[in-house]
Amino acid sequence: MIPQKTVQEILETAKVEDVVQDFVNLRRRGVNMIGLCPFHHEKTPSFTVSPTKNLFKCFGCGKGGDPARFIMEHENLSFPDALKYLARKYRIEIEEVELTPEMAAAQQEEESLYIVNEYARQFFEDQLFKTDIGKSVGLNYFKERGFREETIKKFGLGFAPKEGDVFTQKATQAGYKLDYLKKLGLTSRYDKDFFRNRVMFTIHNLSGKPIAFAGRIMEKDPKAPKYINSPETDVYVKNKILYGAFHAKKAIRQLDECILVEGYTDVISLHQAGIENVVASSGTSLTEGQISLIKRFTPNIKILYDGDPAGVKAALRGLDMVLEKDMNVKVVLIPDKEDPDSYLQKIGATAFQEFIGQQAQDFILFKTNLLLGEVKGDPVKKAGLVRDIVDSIARVPDPFKRSFYVKECARVMELEEEVLVSETNKAVRQVLQKKQFERQKEQGTQLSIVPEDGQGNPLPDLEVLPPQPARPTAAGHEFQERDIVRILIEAGSQIYDEKENITVAEFILSNIEEVLEDFDNKLYQQVARECHNMVVAHETLSPQYFIGHTDPNISELAVDLLHSPFEYSPGWEERDLYLTSQKMPEQNFTRDSLSSLRQFKLRKIIRLCEKNQERLKELKDGGDMGQLMRLLKVQTRLHEMRNELAKELGTVVLK
Ligand code: CTP
Ligand code: MN
Repeated sequence: MIPQKTVQEILETAKVEDVVQDFVNLRRRGVNMIGLCPFHHEKTPSFTVSPTKNLFKCFGCGKGGDPARFIMEHENLSFPDALKYLARKYRIEIEEVELTPEMAAAQQEEESLYIVNEYARQFFEDQLFKTDIGKSVGLNYFKERGFREETIKKFGLGFAPKEGDVFTQKATQAGYKLDYLKKLGLTSRYDKDFFRNRVMFTIHNLSGKPIAFAGRIMEKDPKAPKYINSPETDVYVKNKILYGAFHAKKAIRQLDECILVEGYTDVISLHQAGIENVVASSGTSLTEGQISLIKRFTPNIKILYDGDPAGVKAALRGLDMVLEKDMNVKVVLIPDKEDPDSYLQKIGATAFQEFIGQQAQDFILFKTNLLLGEVKGDPVKKAGLVRDIVDSIARVPDPFKRSFYVKECARVMELEEEVLVSETNKAVRQVLQKKQFERQKEQGTQLSIVPEDGQGNPLPDLEVLPPQPARPTAAGHEFQERDIVRILIEAGSQIYDEKENITVAEFILSNIEEVLEDFDNKLYQQVARECHNMVVAHETLSPQYFIGHTDPNISELAVDLLHSPFEYSPGWEERDLYLTSQKMPEQNFTRDSLSSLRQFKLRKIIRLCEKNQERLKELKDGGDMGQLMRLLKVQTRLHEMRNELAKELGTVVLK
């Protein structure tokens, strides 16, 4: 392990512009430098390097961080290895300290698992290329399927012999512990080989280490499973890996698209044909972990489905999750009875490329068309279809994309656009409420709203409000929370008031101490709490501290925040309410903090307005005049306060 003080030294010495310039051509633009992003394909530069902040950020793909992060991403290194790289570059000597025995053991065990798997991979490869039976049965099988030798080697294909324990014997004789062989599933409980008489596929992690195997049967046998797979281990977590990702990642970044297929052989076949940006979900539906993995490389997915309509319909359900992650999903149906591998072999690489280019359809439109085919003028079925589609559209976080879908789907389904708009809005609200609700449940807190006038004084008018059932509100305070966290990170230890000798962090935290528990966003809350603890302990807050934070979520957040001088709040438009904060003066944190606090309070008032509005709506149907008048008065007062605060802030509130 690298001692903490050396880590600090490395991080303080490494200059982002030096480090990046070893890989990317940069040119000056104002205080920053720009160039073409090495992490995604682009023609106009959106990759920015800020020497003053010692950070890089790509506004195209969103990657960003400090010099160590750049090396981790670019060279695919772990954090310690990136530090070592930087240490070499800057000639800083690293004196490694001992790991704790537990850490050493865990690390050693993981290393051992890779080493044993690598031994197995080599064994299967040798069996395939160097034994008679391997050559005549296994190699022959792969060659008949059209796999070339270089492809077979590249993907770590192999052959497992038929006899009971050849591998286990050999491995134990070579000194590999039976324990590890069993843990990895290579050896069965009864000390026999797990993979027997099968052609073998190596499954790699993102850095190309063998983490698991799949063995395919060669003859058709309805009684035996076509594939058998290694069990889950510390190094093989199934729902977080995608087959082929190691071989595909470079092409995925360059082409800014990931092709998703079902099978191992599809990946290999396409890759061999020059379509390298392809990964497989290994026959299961996509998991959240797999989607996040793809999203690290690109937001664009193209899914190739084997042409079986029932299967496709089932698969479509799982895709709403991908929409929620704000990814662009296209779908291609491979003609009946074929899969990508067989179809490619049938029509050839060029025709196949053309085919998937032309046939790719936007997922939501594809789904609409597919389901519409079944409606056939049946109004009940059509209503069901509308609900289904609306449900998908509602999950798309980007409001512009949503309105595009509403238009297109209305056209395809021959519906009035307004109908679909209002249905979608309802569904969006439901989605947001559900999310909010889940968040609150996770936090185990209910939002408590203290009626006050923005100066900390209780608001008298509000007493007429009947008790409100605790109900989740859709729009959160996240935008303000984010702003407050941004200031804490960026300027926490700057002096807020010289006379009183308090820092920006002290000022902010003393103002929001009582609502620290009411943060909607868990991550922002975590940062705010940590800042609070640090202030209490008289520790110094610094941007570097958060950028280098051990929690990757926090360090990512810090980088993001330090790169956004101004922001708008996504999600506010859900409530027909736009609030645009003006660009904030970058250095004037005193004003900045005050403004953020006002924003924070403004949001509380707005929430009260909304609640009151809902009460009003309910009453309009009920009809108690006196009550109605009172509520209207409250509403007027709230609006006044809201507008006053907004004016102070120099912001615009539209309603
Ligand atoms: N699969 C599995 N176990 C099975 C069947 C399938 O793990 N018993 C997974 C494998 O990852 C397989 C994928 O599901 O690659 C798709 O299955 P299938 O289309 O049947 O296999 P292919 O990979 O297309 O194999 P082949 O082309 O050799 O038939
Ligand atoms: Mn196949």
